[in-house]
Amino acid sequence: MKIPSYIRVLLLFFIVYGIVEYMVESEKPAFIEYPYVALFLLLVLLILIAIESIVGAVERVMFQTLSEEAQERYLAKKEKKVEFKWFKNIYNKLLDQRAIEEEEEIILDHNYDGIKELDNSLPPWWLYLFYATIVFGVVYLAKYHVFNGTTQAQEYEIEVAEARAAIEEWKKTAKDLVDVNTVVLLTDASDLNAGQKIFTTNCVACHMADGGGGIGPNLTDRHWILGGGIKNVFRTISEGGRDGKGMIAWKQSLKPAEMAQVASYILSLQGTTPAKPKAPEGDIWIDPDAPQEEAPTDDIEPEKANDSLEVAMN
Ligand code: HEC
Repeated sequence: MKIPSYIRVLLLFFIVYGIVEYMVESEKPAFIEYPYVALFLLLVLLILIAIESIVGAVERVMFQTLSEEAQERYLAKKEKKVEFKWFKNIYNKLLDQRAIEEEEEIILDHNYDGIKELDNSLPPWWLYLFYATIVFGVVYLAKYHVFNGTTQAQEYEIEVAEARAAIEEWKKTAKDLVDVNTVVLLTDASDLNAGQKIFTTNCVACHMADGGGGIGPNLTDRHWILGGGIKNVFRTISEGGRDGKGMIAWKQSLKPAEMAQVASYILSLQGTTPAKPKAPEGDIWIDPDAPQEEAPTDDIEPEKANDSLEVAMN
């Protein structure tokens, strides 16, 4: 029995196709989503056909050059080759069956009303599987009950923690996703420096370089017209101030990440003393989300500022 060459080509082709589909991540079949995959598969098909036809041609040419006797020998050998001998051998070894003719050798000498018993050896495939389960059992026992390996619940916890870390990592690189609901106070020096640059380019005209205020209000005191805290400040920068006051919405010219940086920079100015501070406008803003323990430290801060003022004046 010889496999026809077109079946061989198709078989190999679909194996390659399967591997490609497995390796290339895509929602639709890879060869539809990525044209170069289709091109690659076409190339594989062409090469397979080429190999088949070259091998076939070589064989035919060689065959023609043989003498008639040699041709017969060649054909006979080819017939024999495809008998899958090795496969049969392994199969028989794994079963370790006795042929019916050999049963006499293994028959046990008891006889129950004509029912006899054969002393067959255990089939090796079964026996080795059994040994394997013993080895597995020992390893399992040692790993989970002696050396306290991670249980499934712990594995789950670990994977969730890893996923959380991956999300955090991803959020760092995807800062532009922040909006007024997700924005958090940035404290990295690089972010604050970037925020300062944005402030110097866009905002000093009205708020002064030290945030003391001019056309716009003082940004260094604890009083806010439109609300303090990172979320309110971010929203003010993004959406602008009250109509006609002069604070425009910056969301057209600044990216969300940049607004988060400049908002964080502004908040880092809290408690500093500008050269010419504008009188406070708006109300003292108390973070409603702040844990209560932090309230006393809030009260201390302005005192500290006063202290330093007094020292500076002396
Ligand atoms: C043309 C002048 C002008 C520029 C430029 C300007 N602002 Fe303002 N800003 C104002 C005014 C005026 C207000 C007060 C708005 C109000 O009363 O509604 C204000 C208010 C604010 C507030 C709210 C203050 C509070 O007390 O609630 C923040 C925060 C702020 N600006 C940040 C910025 C940032 C950041 C920039 C640069 C990207 C900027 N501003 C550029 C004029 C300006």
